[in-house]
Amino acid sequence: MTYQVILPAAGQGKRMGAGKNKLLLELNGLPVLIHTIRVFEQDEACSNIIVAIHPQDEEEFRALITKFNVAKAIRLVPGGKERQDSIYNALKTVETDGIVLVHDAARPFISKEHIYRLTQMTEETGAAILGVPVKDTIKKVQDGMVVETVERSSLWAVQTPQAFRISLLTEAYQRAEKEHFLGTDDASLVERLGYPVTMVEGDYDNIKLTTPEDLYFAEAILEKRKHLGSP
Ligand code: CTP
Ligand code: MG
Repeated sequence: MTYQVILPAAGQGKRMGAGKNKLLLELNGLPVLIHTIRVFEQDEACSNIIVAIHPQDEEEFRALITKFNVAKAIRLVPGGKERQDSIYNALKTVETDGIVLVHDAARPFISKEHIYRLTQMTEETGAAILGVPVKDTIKKVQDGMVVETVERSSLWAVQTPQAFRISLLTEAYQRAEKEHFLGTDDASLVERLGYPVTMVEGDYDNIKLTTPEDLYFAEAILEKRKHLGSP
């Protein structure tokens, strides 16, 4: 079973504060964008990569794709104001039915094994996402005061990829557009259709590079993988 992947990459990287799109920052001499693309390039189950990009990055992204010889079919589409807009633009270019994955380009450490588990589950259920149980105690706070300690055992931190039957995700995006709903992830658009979404346990390495200290974690993950000999 093959799948297509949408990589939203059209953000500004404001919280990283690098003065440019954080996906252009290098880890081990390779831009974050290329790290992420390579995972899917090297997965034979992935038929097609669609990257949503900001027009200001187009020239640089195209040059990197050429420089690093991305061999797999790759399509660049214009991103939008919000992440959800970027993904919708990309989704509109996905033609055939099957499975589509949405994966933040800013998560370069996704493993092939977890992609496999996620796509297997999506074949069965139509919608599945990766996540990990939260490690911290989570409290609800209003005006500086604790109002509730949330039961931790049922809390999961959600990651990407999130995977869906293309027809289901398309319906979810159409409904969200019609009803002006802006979600914080793709699954929330599907959930509001009343469709069940399955959680697949991922791993804690699959971090999103968001703020400068994440780069230290990223270096540590790369170092660990070098010693373990894994990709
Ligand atoms: N993204 C996108 N289109 C947008 C906003 C974000 O494609 N309008 C992408 C980012 O490029 C990133 C992913 O969505 O790969 C997750 O978003 P986030 O981590 O928030 O990245 P940025 O929006 O770039 O960062 P920030 O919010 O700090 O500006
Ligand atoms: Mg953002």
